[in-house]
Amino acid sequence: MSYNLLKGKRGIIFGALDEKSIAWKVAMRAHEEGAEFVLTNAPIAMRMGEINKLAEHCNAQIIPADATSVEDLENLFTQAQEILGGKIDFVLHSIGMSPNIRKGKSYGDLNYEWFLKTLDISAISFHKVMHVAEKQDAMSEWGSIVALSYIAAQRVFPDYTDMSHAKAVLESIARNYGYRLGRAKKVRVNTVSQSPTKTTAGTGVGGFDAFFEYADKMSPLGNAPADACADYCVTLFSDLTRYVTMQNLMHDGGFSTMGISEDIVEMISK
Ligand SMILES: NC(=O)c1ccc[n+]([C@@H]2O[C@H](COP(=O)([O-])OP(=O)(O)OC[C@H]3O[C@@H](n4cnc5c(N)ncnc54)[C@H](O)[C@@H]3O)[C@@H](O)[C@H]2O)c1
Repeated sequence: MSYNLLKGKRGIIFGALDEKSIAWKVAMRAHEEGAEFVLTNAPIAMRMGEINKLAEHCNAQIIPADATSVEDLENLFTQAQEILGGKIDFVLHSIGMSPNIRKGKSYGDLNYEWFLKTLDISAISFHKVMHVAEKQDAMSEWGSIVALSYIAAQRVFPDYTDMSHAKAVLESIARNYGYRLGRAKKVRVNTVSQSPTKTTAGTGVGGFDAFFEYADKMSPLGNAPADACADYCVTLFSDLTRYVTMQNLMHDGGFSTMGISEDIVEMISK
């Protein structure tokens, strides 16, 4: 159901890889709500060509950009404003990748070169995005910037290894740029901490099925699906949340407030 919440708004959506991606769902919902936007992803991720289907459906153009490259981001923001015909109202940063997780390195055996890559791709890229947006004065007043996070920023999830540090940095960047862009342009910056979700990035984490199941049984509402995350992001891009900023917002069916649930007690007692 559409409420026209984003009618007349222009956006940039990072990170739609395939139909399972959270960014893909956000793009579909933003389109439904009347937004116009460009889609972007790392050039290497576009080889599969899946993003073309989404672009066609949303009537959106695709601008390749490696989010770790300031030069690519400068080109992206310049082109996006030309294509969309004005400043940007919303940005979704839905980017995460850890070479250490991909290669199955345990926390005590991290490759430090890869650790730096994890931080650059999954966290510092968020700083670079806002740095370029600010330098180009590309954001509209009362614009909204959202990045996706995970509760491993605050709690220990052993298999999430160096990504837990990336998420902690990501959330800190949201607070600091939230202050800066809020003062300068009334732009708000938040992170959404999402439940485990069956996507390419999600299922790459060791033991994913177990902690998906565990989180589902701990949360009174169950794990939040990707479609619901998209709904939430749309509200954060809309004018209905103009004074929400510098927050890490839990979108997790209640998981983060739980100690133990009856379902888990039952499982263990069996
Ligand atoms: N899936 C989960 O369980 C879960 C839970 C909480 C938060 N998140 C976060 O949600 C976000 C989106 O992940 P997803 O689960 O939709 O998985 P996904 O694999 O579909 O998306 C990750 C995206 O990051 C992109 N990316 C990687 N390196 C890049 C680079 N250098 N430049 C630009 N883009 C790059 C990939 O191409 C891909 O599109 C990530 O930040 C992830 O950590 C996921």
